[in-house]
Amino acid sequence: MQAADWDARYAERQQWSAEPNTLVAELLTDLPPGRAVDLAAGEGRHALWLAGRGWQVTAVDFSVTGLARGRSRPGAEAVTWVTADVLTWAAPPDSLDLVLVAYLHLPEADTTAVLRRAVGWLRPGGRLLVLGHDVDNVAHGVGGPQDPAILYGTVRLAPVAELLDVDRLEQVRRATPAGTALDTLLWGRRRSRSVVPRR
Ligand SMILES: C[S@@+](CC[C@H](N)C(=O)[O-])C[C@H]1O[C@@H](n2cnc3c(N)ncnc32)[C@H](O)[C@@H]1O
Repeated sequence: MQAADWDARYAERQQWSAEPNTLVAELLTDLPPGRAVDLAAGEGRHALWLAGRGWQVTAVDFSVTGLARGRSRPGAEAVTWVTADVLTWAAPPDSLDLVLVAYLHLPEADTTAVLRRAVGWLRPGGRLLVLGHDVDNVAHGVGGPQDPAILYGTVRLAPVAELLDVDRLEQVRRATPAGTALDTLLWGRRRSRSVVPRR
């Protein structure tokens, strides 16, 4: 989907709950606040939640309409909102404690390229959290995009995981009102000496 498609979707109505994803909140709740980027932040539910916990957050998305909804919420002034394409946007190298990427769905080569670059924005030991619809969700889950080419999987994330000390790389189950959805989780820390792409 292009930015205009996302704008149209966000213009229809609020797309996601204002609350953070349960697993995202569980994994991040005990981290000491620092500098974070929420990549493909949408309506900013995670950026706002992190900012409320003392994080210095930059929320990046190419949907002006999605970000506008985030900007209108309480606490929005604590977040830096950036309208940009994640395929070209970059944070300074070694500058972040956390990059969060929740439900960004791109063709596999683009996903790999974006996430490998994102690792380079982390300081050594900084955290990457990627959560997205798993490819098995099409046949065995509910909701989410149905095009397997843009879905996640543990094997597909291997070229990103190799840059990290990995805490978790697995398929996870998510309860929804419609049933159980299947997501892929990557949760790790940038290796001290990993050589990562800068651009
Ligand atoms: C399913 S939403 C997830 C939003 C948010 N991460 C969340 O969990 O609530 C996917 C988001 O990815 C954004 N997106 C998709 N492709 C993008 C790109 N190339 N550059 C920037 N944002 C993109 C869309 O605009 C949309 O807001």
